[in-house]
Amino acid sequence: MAGMKGIILSGGSGTRLYPMTRAANKQLLPVYNKPMVYYPLTTLMLAGCRDILLIVNPGDAEAYRRLFGDGRQWGIEIGYEPQPKPGGIAEAFLIGRRFIGDSRVGLILGDNLFYGDSLPAVAERGAQGNGAVVYAYWVADPSAYGVVEFDAEGRALSIVEKPKQPKSNWAVTGLYFYDSDVCDVAGQIPRSARGELEISDINAHYLKEGRLTVEKLGRGYAWLDTGTPSSLLRAAQFVETVEDRQGLQIGSPEEIAWRKGYIDDNAFERLIQPIRESEYGKYLQRLLARG
Ligand code: TTP
Repeated sequence: MAGMKGIILSGGSGTRLYPMTRAANKQLLPVYNKPMVYYPLTTLMLAGCRDILLIVNPGDAEAYRRLFGDGRQWGIEIGYEPQPKPGGIAEAFLIGRRFIGDSRVGLILGDNLFYGDSLPAVAERGAQGNGAVVYAYWVADPSAYGVVEFDAEGRALSIVEKPKQPKSNWAVTGLYFYDSDVCDVAGQIPRSARGELEISDINAHYLKEGRLTVEKLGRGYAWLDTGTPSSLLRAAQFVETVEDRQGLQIGSPEEIAWRKGYIDDNAFERLIQPIRESEYGKYLQRLLARG
């Protein structure tokens, strides 16, 4: 969709991963064979976002620039804005206000990994929808997330952030789409008791206005976050298992750019040349050879 913007929130303090995150930003850590942030980036690309803002900690901007440059090599545009300190997920809409302008916007958390056959179509629907579109996923322990309560017809009744007694097992995932007025909404909501601008408050606002769609991601999808040592390892094992079985990679921006026609065969070849000795480069070479 023309004019669709995407934001990756890739700051945070990563305290649960200490000491891994003392010197390295969480989203730059590997999930098996790629930096973690490749997975949310490619989810946005699959949703059709080609204009992307990375929100990063001030000290990490240089590392992200080394990783992504301006994105042109993949036929997309990547810009950067610092988040002075982790003040909540909804701060993305204050920091990104100028970038968003009057466009619809997708937000994805830099530590979220989505996988599933129809994911591109599901995400595209969110990108092209109206109001707010968020996704709910059944998890064993929803108490660490925003939790959705549904009525008998499957309509969302409430969203509660980190409830002690969750009303359902449906957790709100880290992929969200909004109309451009989300920036005004973010400017109106108060900070929570923990001093953060909460994404659940934004979603509750749209729910109250009758402008929130909560789409359930069924059990044929994987939604993994990677915020603790064991969830990080499990995500890596998941990627390794699927990639090894299929001989196809999850979350390759080069592959998606090429398949979507953002880059042609020659540009793809130029990306492969410098990395042709790596497993990753060999994988891309095989794709190109097969055509
Ligand atoms: P969290 O996992 O909630 O926080 P964190 O990454 O700082 O880790 P920890 O809880 O171990 O200290 O963040 C979820 C995602 O959102 C993650 O990708 C980082 C990102 N984030 C920001 O970029 N800025 C913020 O202000 C917050 C709260 C999160």
